[in-house]
Amino acid sequence: MSTVKFYQATEQVPLEMHKVRVVQKLFLPPVEERVKHMNEAGNNTFLLQNKDVYMDMLTDSGVNAMSDNQVAAMMQADDSYAGSETCNRLVKVIREVFGTEYFLPAHQGRACENILAEAFVKPGDVVPMNFHFTTTKAHITRLGGSVVELVRPVGLEPKNNEPFKGNFDIDALKQVIRETGAEHIPFVRIEAGTNLIGGQPLSLENMLEVAAVCKQNGIMTVLDASLLQDNLYFIKTREEACKHMTIREITRTLCDQMDLIYFSSRKLGFARGGGIVSNNEKLILKMKEFIPLYEGFLTYGGMEVRSMEAIAVGLLETMDEEIIGQGPQFIEYLVKELDAYGVPMIMPAGGLGAHINATEFLQGMPHGEYPAGALAAALYIAGGIRGMERGTLSEQRDPDGTEHYAELELVRLACPRRVFTLSQMKYCADRVKWLYDNRQLIGGLKWVEEPAVLRFFFGRLAPIGDWQERLAAKFRQDFGDSL
Ligand code: F0G
Repeated sequence: MSTVKFYQATEQVPLEMHKVRVVQKLFLPPVEERVKHMNEAGNNTFLLQNKDVYMDMLTDSGVNAMSDNQVAAMMQADDSYAGSETCNRLVKVIREVFGTEYFLPAHQGRACENILAEAFVKPGDVVPMNFHFTTTKAHITRLGGSVVELVRPVGLEPKNNEPFKGNFDIDALKQVIRETGAEHIPFVRIEAGTNLIGGQPLSLENMLEVAAVCKQNGIMTVLDASLLQDNLYFIKTREEACKHMTIREITRTLCDQMDLIYFSSRKLGFARGGGIVSNNEKLILKMKEFIPLYEGFLTYGGMEVRSMEAIAVGLLETMDEEIIGQGPQFIEYLVKELDAYGVPMIMPAGGLGAHINATEFLQGMPHGEYPAGALAAALYIAGGIRGMERGTLSEQRDPDGTEHYAELELVRLACPRRVFTLSQMKYCADRVKWLYDNRQLIGGLKWVEEPAVLRFFFGRLAPIGDWQERLAAKFRQDFGDSL
């Protein structure tokens, strides 16, 4: 993908190595209606109706475009309960890609996390990880465990251009093991790349170092491979020592050192579903009984068989650098456009999507007025673009009820793979730039309904004051009768 040069390019333009053959019509409601829809949705982009959204950049989970070969494979699904050929085909691909003998199917990533936590986490346990993900932390704390984040400080510096900002602080890991005691650490979790800190990747070297430290201390290493496809691309393109390796070689070198690997196939493999894989039969046996209990029989684990066929093809396609390059390259295009304009972005461009630093975008807004939530609401009003708050609203309150402020207040503009065209990315950049120039109009949010668990999914908020009407009026003034 990156090898195609333009004769007249003034900028690096990502060129798609695919063509679009199935499309979905989109609608863009007028700005006044967008204000209305945002409020009906409690200023929570999770609660917007998709018919009212022009660019759905909420997530890249389960919404990536599938290939012709994936769709074709879905037609041959064998949905027999036991001994299913579909399951056999998927296991064969998993052995080939990850090099792992055993596979436990689960309906999605958080289902794997539930099973991992049930099998291994006890009250008082500590699970070190480079950074938490919302559902991961919820499952560990639900069982009385806690999470320690060991990303290096540089990982939380929005403008630092280091290539592998998701890396572990290895010395900090050793210290946590010394202080906690290996017996209270059921596993160390590697999230490659990191969801909540801007899709920043880890180097192969760092992940292997983590595994080596774990081995020395008799601790299990668990890889969350949900975001692995972008991370593989970054290892290949950014890590000097890996430039000569194929994506397959990088994958196997990494996976050979992991005790357990789990993934959400809503991301990895451009499909829907998930699973846990390993070469360690003993570990698998500790989790196996939970699959029929929570998920479904061992041949499908709650997944639809057609999805399993799509995962099998999608995992093989993930080994193709040209295929997995599309996401990072489109994200980089958007991030560079916005950064050049002065919009505070998480740098360098990572995986998953473009991430706006809301703290800096809305300088002066009190933390307690939820700048990232406010910016996500404003962006929907400005352009019918649905991003996701990844800041304080996505955190849980402390047990005593005090607000737990996030280290980074981000608005994530996820880039589902092969879904948007470059003109749509340009439109997105244009509306963010307009909003940046009008940022003094954006006000804060306050809670109306706050659920106790994973509040960002269902919580409802209201704008403080009439800033949304004033933002819409300024839009009319600047854009005339444009949608
Ligand atoms: N781990 C990581 C790193 C993830 O990004 C996700 C999901 C999960 C686990 C859970 O997987 O959704 O299949 O249950 N991330 C989605 C997102 C929800 O929008 O970023 P799941």
